[in-house]
Amino acid sequence: MCGIIGYSGSGDAVPVLVNGLKRMEYRGYDSAGIALLGKLPKSGLDFWVRRAEGRVTNLESKLKDHLLAHQGIAHTRWATHGAPTEINAHPHCAGSVSLVHNGIIENHAEIKDRLIAEGISFQSQTDTEVFAQLLNYEFSRLLKSNKGESPRQLVLKALQVSGAQALGHYSVLFMVKECPGSLFALHMGAPVVACKAEGVFVASDLQALLEYGRDLFFLKPGQILVAHPDSLEFFKASDLSLEDVSSERIEWAAEKVEKDGYEHFMLKEMFEQPLTVAETLSGRLPQDEDSPFLWDNPIAHQEIWSKSKRVTLVACGTAYHAAMIGKYYFEKMARVPVDVELASEFRYRDPVIDQGHLIGVISQSGETADTLAALRMARELGLDTFSICNVPGSTIARESQLSYPTKAGPEIGVASTKAFTNQLTILCALAADIGRLKGVDSARRKGVAQALARLPQDLERVLSFSDEFMEMGAGLSPLKTILFIGRGMMYPIALEGALKLKEITYRHAEGYAAGELKHGPIAMVDEKLAAVVFGPDDDVLAKTLSNLEEVRARNGKIIGIGSDDNSAFKKISDEYIGLKSLHWSVAPMAYVIPAQFISYGLAKHLGCDIDKPRNLAKSVTVE
Ligand code: AGP
Repeated sequence: MCGIIGYSGSGDAVPVLVNGLKRMEYRGYDSAGIALLGKLPKSGLDFWVRRAEGRVTNLESKLKDHLLAHQGIAHTRWATHGAPTEINAHPHCAGSVSLVHNGIIENHAEIKDRLIAEGISFQSQTDTEVFAQLLNYEFSRLLKSNKGESPRQLVLKALQVSGAQALGHYSVLFMVKECPGSLFALHMGAPVVACKAEGVFVASDLQALLEYGRDLFFLKPGQILVAHPDSLEFFKASDLSLEDVSSERIEWAAEKVEKDGYEHFMLKEMFEQPLTVAETLSGRLPQDEDSPFLWDNPIAHQEIWSKSKRVTLVACGTAYHAAMIGKYYFEKMARVPVDVELASEFRYRDPVIDQGHLIGVISQSGETADTLAALRMARELGLDTFSICNVPGSTIARESQLSYPTKAGPEIGVASTKAFTNQLTILCALAADIGRLKGVDSARRKGVAQALARLPQDLERVLSFSDEFMEMGAGLSPLKTILFIGRGMMYPIALEGALKLKEITYRHAEGYAAGELKHGPIAMVDEKLAAVVFGPDDDVLAKTLSNLEEVRARNGKIIGIGSDDNSAFKKISDEYIGLKSLHWSVAPMAYVIPAQFISYGLAKHLGCDIDKPRNLAKSVTVE
């Protein structure tokens, strides 16, 4: 969840590091810090460290008279161990070592006790300082008994021993006083990516590196990186043998990581939905309704799906809501039974596995700890796997057998928007294609490819109501509770609407299947409650309208989002926006847009920090 960056070259390290931190601030933003290795006026070659609570701008104000150094590491934190205070902020220094860290060291308490017994004292409550102290301890021991090995070799040995002792999913990046110019990183389950340009750059996120290079080196779990200003070397942590790692070209434009004049990344990303959906579909649509969709790995796609008899879709948060809609798509178009699982639950269960059971994981970041663990569990059980990820080179995309990338581009706003519409687009296309592959003669499937081809224009049309949706959202401010309601594929959209609203406004919201209202939540309905209702013209709309009568009878406010010619729905609603009628398969992509803008409108009205909501981080790389 934290962001880490390192630089070693010939330039001033501070602007590079601060820039990198700003690019990764969405990963965590409760404190930040920087360490430089350079010549200090009094002590000679030493670490120069500054740390601050809160945002990167607070750190920046402490860097005005910074040391001119050509090497440094920096960190933006989402606290796990220890409060978000300056003392707990990274980097943590211990003797020869200054270190930043991402992830969790599970047995930190046990290691700490051992080191305390050796006479080592600690400043912070973090697991990070435990690793820094352990590494320094092992390095000092090796240094004392050294028989002519280079300091670099001793650091590698110390890192090997420390990495073997510290359990968990994490990565560390550090500098050692005895090895000026070098940066060391260890990948133990949390991402590390590097590039070489005018110097070397190492980070947890590719977004932080794109302006320096597009040819990126992704470390694998269990690998060590040693970066010098003009070279990158990779080692296997278990035996310190040299490893070959080739670079991957990443086509994301660095400008995509800018707000482009929009007030928030979230706003920009909501408006990017039509274009990104077109990008995801580009080159994939079939020639006609009986031809296949075009996937990157058609032979493996065909092989794996032909033997699949049952699919389990696994994800967290917004991606889980996409999976729920995926179930409707696969059942309707491919007649494949689908289970949908929260990754954090699935991984700790003992699922019943059948022959032909295929596991699909969905993740914007491709790094979510629970989703990754579920994928690994599936692989250990010998199951076939596929993933739908947005970040190229991400761990989940690499570790799954089939990968169906969404091309939404960098999503920086913590609240996921364009990744969701792109996930739905892939799921819809995939289910239609599997229906064809399995010879399902379904009239329902017909026309899906045409509907997908028209989707970017349809989404543009929905976006033309953005001001009205935001106004609706602002109008919800006096209410105490917002219910989001829908049936069928609109039920997951209702859940997604409630999640968006909670995330960025901190107001109470619930998503419900309309038919469930009278089984409990209707007890909450009075004049201080609003129901935001998603009701495209489908075969369950009449049922939804009956449920709305029950809300209205209890003085709840009704905000309707339906089709533009549905007078009955319009009549029952206090406020109503009508969208052009859409093919059933693309209704979820269109109807989530009002939910996003309503939440955004309310958050803006309430003055919330929309791109960086309190307590959240973009990529949840801890359990
Ligand atoms: C969405 O708005 C959230 N911030 C969150 O629920 C997110 O969808 C979830 O953490 C999963 O992330 P992933 O798609 O990167 O795996």
